Amino acid sequence: MGFTISKAVIPAAGLGTRFLPATKAIPKEMLAVVDKPAIQYVVEEAVAAGLTDVLMITGRNKNALENHFDHVSELEETLRKKGDHEKLAKVNQSTDLADMHYVRQGDPLGLGHAVLRASMHVGREPFAVLLGDDIIDARDPLLSRMIEVQGKKNASVVALLEVPDNMTHLYGVATVEATDEDDVVKITGLVEKPPQGEAPSNLAIIGRYVLRPEVFDVLEKQAPGKGGEIQLTDALEKMAAADEWTGGVYGVVFRGRRYDTGDKLDYIKAIIQLASDREDLGEDLKAWILEFASGLEK
Ligand code: G1P
Repeated sequence: MGFTISKAVIPAAGLGTRFLPATKAIPKEMLAVVDKPAIQYVVEEAVAAGLTDVLMITGRNKNALENHFDHVSELEETLRKKGDHEKLAKVNQSTDLADMHYVRQGDPLGLGHAVLRASMHVGREPFAVLLGDDIIDARDPLLSRMIEVQGKKNASVVALLEVPDNMTHLYGVATVEATDEDDVVKITGLVEKPPQGEAPSNLAIIGRYVLRPEVFDVLEKQAPGKGGEIQLTDALEKMAAADEWTGGVYGVVFRGRRYDTGDKLDYIKAIIQLASDREDLGEDLKAWILEFASGLEK
């Protein structure tokens, strides 16, 4: 029997130390990518895939996240009085997106631990997990395809991206077998951030998962792994090996546009890429980039 998946879990409890001092008093998820906080892209992606209920796993210092998805009456009133409907629509965009819920992680014991904090809210149904460091271009739907594959296989599904050899140590990496669908693979093994040269393949997990609730049963017993943290990858490795009761794990190989906002350089690239595609900014920005680049010395 298939479920309609309606719940998205977004872990957002990280300290964002790579972006200090910008993240001293505001969560890294609130850093603007062009003119929208990174987290809003992620919630919009979940909503576009039909998910209506969003649970954020937050921590200390994360009040700005809750405020961003809530009404801000004074500002709304001021804009309404001024008749500035365009700005008012921008303010309301994030308020009306989804049914938002929050739970704190408490101790930051790893991604697996953060996801386990969702178990009460999610219950015994399949759900999606979206990590905030990855932004998937809205024109290249990934999550809806993953949800489709989840329903068809009654399994758990992760998003995979082919990355170069010198990048595999930054990701969970999969061992896979082909299926009869070109963009779907069966996962037979997973390893979290393998040392350089030891990755079983070039297929890296990017931050999108559609999981069966059995993942909670596995996570409850999951010992700390890489970095002393409870790793979601380790739990999924167990699920892949126990497909009689977990349904196994499949990968959807993503070939679309993805922007990483996890470190400073990638964050700057993401802003430039997204802004150059924008109708209101693209033309002027591209002209300036060409001029700027021609003056650069190698
Ligand atoms: C996490 C996961 C890793 C995955 C990555 C995707 O790592 O543990 O398996 O490949 O997200 O972005 P993090 O980047 O949070 O260290």
